[in-house]
Amino acid sequence: MNKLYEEAKGALKHSYSKYSNFRVSAALKMKNGEVITGVNIENAAYGLSLCAERNALTTAYSKGIKKDDIAEILLTTDQEYFVSPCGSCRQVMIELMPADAPVHMTNNKGEIKTVLNKDLLPHAFTEDDL
Ligand code: THU
Repeated sequence: MNKLYEEAKGALKHSYSKYSNFRVSAALKMKNGEVITGVNIENAAYGLSLCAERNALTTAYSKGIKKDDIAEILLTTDQEYFVSPCGSCRQVMIELMPADAPVHMTNNKGEIKTVLNKDLLPHAFTEDDL
C-alpha cells in the first residue's frame, strides 16, 4: 500500500489544475502488480476538466487492461482530509473496475480510508439495467 501511495503522491506534480489549484492523483494497481497513474487535467472551459480517477482508468483501458485485471485504486491530494471520488468518477469506476475492488482515499499524511467500489455508488445504473 505504501508503494501505491508513493506512486500517487509522486504523480501529483503532473496535475494540471491551474484553475482550482486542487491537485488530485490516482494510482491504479493491476493484479499483476502494474501501476498506472492519472491526475486531474483542467481546462479554461471549466466543464471540460478531467478527473484523476477517470484519467487513470481510461489510460489503463487504452493499453488493453480490462476490468478483471484491476485490483485496486488509491487517490491522494494535498489536503489533510480524505477526498472521495466525485459522482461521475463513481459511475465510471463501477463500469470499469470490479465491484469488490478496494478504493483507498489518502490524505497528505499518508493516512488511509478504504471502501469497496460497490459501496461508493449504491443502486448504480449498470449494464444489468439495459
Ligand atoms: N477532481 C478529481 O480529479 N477527482 C475527483 O473525484 C474529484 C474532483 C478534480 C477535478 C478538478 O480538477 C478539481 O478536482 C477540483 O474539483
